Amino acid sequence: MSSPIHTPAEDRYEHLPYRRASRSGLDLPAFSFGLWQKFGPEHGYEKRREIILHAFDLGITHFDNADRYGPPTRGAQKFFGQVLAQDLAPYRDELILSTKAGNPIGASPYQKGASRKSLLASLEHSLRDLGTDYVDVFYSHSPDLTTPLEETVGALVSAVGQGKALYAGISNYLPDRARKAAALLREAGVPLLVHQPRYSIFDRRPERNGLLAAAAEDGFGLVVYSPLAQGLLTDKYLVDIPDGARARDSAFLSPDVIDATYRERAAALNKIAEERGQSLAQLALQWVLRRPEVTSALIGASSTGQLDHNLQALDFPPLTEAELASIDEHGVHGTGLKL
Ligand SMILES: NC(=O)c1ccc[n+]([C@@H]2O[C@H](COP(=O)([O-])OP(=O)(O)OC[C@H]3O[C@@H](n4cnc5c(N)ncnc54)[C@H](OP(=O)(O)O)[C@@H]3O)[C@@H](O)[C@H]2O)c1
Repeated sequence: MSSPIHTPAEDRYEHLPYRRASRSGLDLPAFSFGLWQKFGPEHGYEKRREIILHAFDLGITHFDNADRYGPPTRGAQKFFGQVLAQDLAPYRDELILSTKAGNPIGASPYQKGASRKSLLASLEHSLRDLGTDYVDVFYSHSPDLTTPLEETVGALVSAVGQGKALYAGISNYLPDRARKAAALLREAGVPLLVHQPRYSIFDRRPERNGLLAAAAEDGFGLVVYSPLAQGLLTDKYLVDIPDGARARDSAFLSPDVIDATYRERAAALNKIAEERGQSLAQLALQWVLRRPEVTSALIGASSTGQLDHNLQALDFPPLTEAELASIDEHGVHGTGLKL
């Protein structure tokens, strides 16, 4: 860690809109940044640090993590803790840090599932890795149907009560369970801040299963992940699979989804974007953010250039009804995804 401490850009709050998380008092940046992949040690400290600091300079205040992220498990949080210590500690009050627990991270029975033990032990460990006394949002990463929802919600309430988290979140919950969790949290005086589902032109579940409606009615925000379908909703795979792209080296995006059907749909969407004078990535991001239920689009990036490019998505005029209809025609649910 020999490079000088970073001085954040003075104009960092002039780039992005901040959107209120439903009925809470908290505003989140229209774009949040996630450290799911390529944020472990094998990807080089300086390159990863540069991306995080660039994001902060562009007004991204919200950094999303989980105990699992890296690789290896816990690698991304340890890395973020280093950047926090080196560069961002004076700006901790300006950061929204989130972490999640409950997806498997080890062989122990307490390293999986949404029991009180598993969630709170993971949170303690995450706070140590991140080098902070509290996270802003603590999520139950996935529903655990073998654990009473009351126990999971109780752990989130305890985390907030102990000052180890400021707000509670859930992720990947179907609408019925999300509504029940929201009701239990409300009763406990810790209203559900946000739900984190996957949502993109190629993943329409939040529209179809009623999650968007639940968010509006129950008053929680949506921080939607993989809005670019991990890169499938960019122009990078239209012809080939470039070196270094996620589809070449990730356990979560296999090259076999990049088939003729995918390419035909992506090319048609790319054409709609071109007619608007923007890229497919920018179209896809603008598309998720058109919905008022969506508080923030939770993106990843493997370079600062991708961030610069993607954050320009909101510089374009709103999508028209005709454009939305054309997007629906080619944005077929399930394209490129293992559902
Ligand atoms: N709650 C959950 O269960 C869950 C699950 C998954 C993700 N998440 C969260 O959501 C975050 C974002 O997920 P994601 O990374 O899948 O989001 P994404 O924004 O859909 O995909 C990001 C990836 O797309 C590629 N990309 C981005 N901009 C590009 C551009 N302009 N041109 C070409 N390629 C571009 C990059 O990959 P390459 O350059 O490497 O190809 C980048 O890493 C995660 O970090 C995590 O915080 C949560």
